[in-house]
Amino acid sequence: MRSLNIIGAGRLGKTLGRLWHQQGTFRVQTVCNRTADSTRAAVAFIGAGHGAASLESMDDADCWLIATGDGHIEEVAAALAPRLADKNDTVVFHCSGALSSKVLAPCRPAAIASAHPVHSFADPAQSVRNLAGTSVALEGDAAATSLLGSAFAALQCKLLAIAPENKSLYHAGSVFACNYLSALMDLSLRTFAAAGIEREQALELLSPIVMQTARNNMQLGPEKSLTGPIARGDATTVAAQLEALQQTDPQLAECYRQLGRACVELARRGTLSPDGADALTELLQEPPQ
Ligand SMILES: NC(=O)c1ccc[n+]([C@@H]2O[C@H](COP(=O)([O-])OP(=O)(O)OC[C@H]3O[C@@H](n4cnc5c(N)ncnc54)[C@H](OP(=O)(O)O)[C@@H]3O)[C@@H](O)[C@H]2O)c1
Repeated sequence: MRSLNIIGAGRLGKTLGRLWHQQGTFRVQTVCNRTADSTRAAVAFIGAGHGAASLESMDDADCWLIATGDGHIEEVAAALAPRLADKNDTVVFHCSGALSSKVLAPCRPAAIASAHPVHSFADPAQSVRNLAGTSVALEGDAAATSLLGSAFAALQCKLLAIAPENKSLYHAGSVFACNYLSALMDLSLRTFAAAGIEREQALELLSPIVMQTARNNMQLGPEKSLTGPIARGDATTVAAQLEALQQTDPQLAECYRQLGRACVELARRGTLSPDGADALTELLQEPPQ
């Protein structure tokens, strides 16, 4: 079994470490975080391997995962590079959605790759239970992508090949659907609060409709899932909502306009007439400064 070192076993690193250890995919060997307490906790969570106080004191390994935050991957790769100078049978990878494998180029002749699981690792204990079925976008040197393809397939993940030059756009695609959904929920809760509806009650009333909308979008696609005043071409309702938001909080009105224009473009591809769409686009323009 191949050995795996993890530099930065935080939410993602310790989840993958534990799953690969449990599956017998990798022998988790040395773990190194920034602080000793965090390293100890990660080794305990993974249930295998031992901690190291520094990169220099880590054992050699067949495969290295750099799972620090994105901002530290480049400097860790540069620090790791000298000890890999003659290791052309070693694999080094990171799991960032935003960065390509090129950031690991100093580690050559090791084979380098990036493998981004489209999963939110907010709670590692939950991620250990839920990771199966996740898609993993993979790119890099053939020796590395082949090893990692098998390693993620062992966790029942689905593989998706991505060109390195498309990683920023690919990652922005998940940011829209995943991170911006949280921003949309916050805008919704702020608007309900302005209408006198408490957060807990608002979450309760939103839960079934948000879940249903998500299911509709997955099953029918966005064009057929869009309902509400913009889909119906109801300019009177849109104007009244815009006015109420502008009176309450101009930032809410600004977001309503921008997202509203995106909804109009979506509705144009559905049943909204060209005239109806043009009238709504006009209504949702930014007000003159
Ligand atoms: N979280 C997600 O949902 C998610 C999803 C997909 C991909 N990713 C990617 O996964 C990677 C890790 O993200 P994460 O959310 O797991 O991060 P995280 O929970 O913040 O963990 C980062 C870990 O890196 C350690 N670290 C930071 N700098 C270090 C250094 N110079 N040397 C050694 N260890 C260092 C930290 O140690 P301390 O604990 O001691 O500070 C921490 O344990 C990122 O590339 C991210 O883009 C994350």
